[in-house]
Amino acid sequence: MNHPDVANDVRSRLALALDVDDLVEAGRLGRRMLPWFSVAKVGLELFSASGPEAVGAFVDQGYEVFLDLKLHDIPTTVGKAAKVLGSLGVSYVTVHSSGGIDMLAAAVDGLNEGASAAGLTPPMVLAVTVLTSDLEAPGSLLQERLGYAVEADCGGVVCAASDLAEVSLVAPELLAVVPGIRPEGVVANDQGRPATPREAIKQGAGILVIGRAVTASSEPEEAASNIAAEVAEAI
Ligand code: C5P
Repeated sequence: MNHPDVANDVRSRLALALDVDDLVEAGRLGRRMLPWFSVAKVGLELFSASGPEAVGAFVDQGYEVFLDLKLHDIPTTVGKAAKVLGSLGVSYVTVHSSGGIDMLAAAVDGLNEGASAAGLTPPMVLAVTVLTSDLEAPGSLLQERLGYAVEADCGGVVCAASDLAEVSLVAPELLAVVPGIRPEGVVANDQGRPATPREAIKQGAGILVIGRAVTASSEPEEAASNIAAEVAEAI
């Protein structure tokens, strides 16, 4: 297998979206892409199929696991679920900021509690700001939700590249995690507000979430190398 020497400051900025429903397939993809990606994103699809086992599989491969479950419920329920997730060894967990400050704070507390009981480093809460599918969202919503994230002590946000300027202005202390990444010439699929790796990094993205630009490519290694080279130039 080809193991290119990807600089750590590039690899640490790249998260691989494992949007499949089969852990064997996801595991194979994870092993193949490890030279370029430091973070493995396990979403609703894979977690529904394999549950916590999916987390362990990628931690064992050497990834930081980003559990993209987009929690949203009453604060007590979110807090209790977060406590369980905090004990799994994940590094990032997404929570809908539309749930409000109390719910976000319950997630932060629950993750801290679960992690400390298991002797682990607490995962970072990433507040999902405005879904790219929500085309009707007023401009003020992003600012309001960034305020919730800061107030509740979240470590970061998930936002579109087009929202990065606002994030840098309102809450520069938050890690900005950005999906919808499409290198020049790669189809957008269902991504509403795509950006190139260079644009996203230049605009302040901390971590780029890469899915189909690599996973749907006929040459995933080459696609990943091209993205890594573009990121290396932009940072
Ligand atoms: O499009 P790609 O395969 O790169 O998707 C990577 C991630 O982007 C997905 O796992 C999903 O969480 C997110 N996504 C998004 N908005 C969309 C479609 C996908 O934020 N419209």
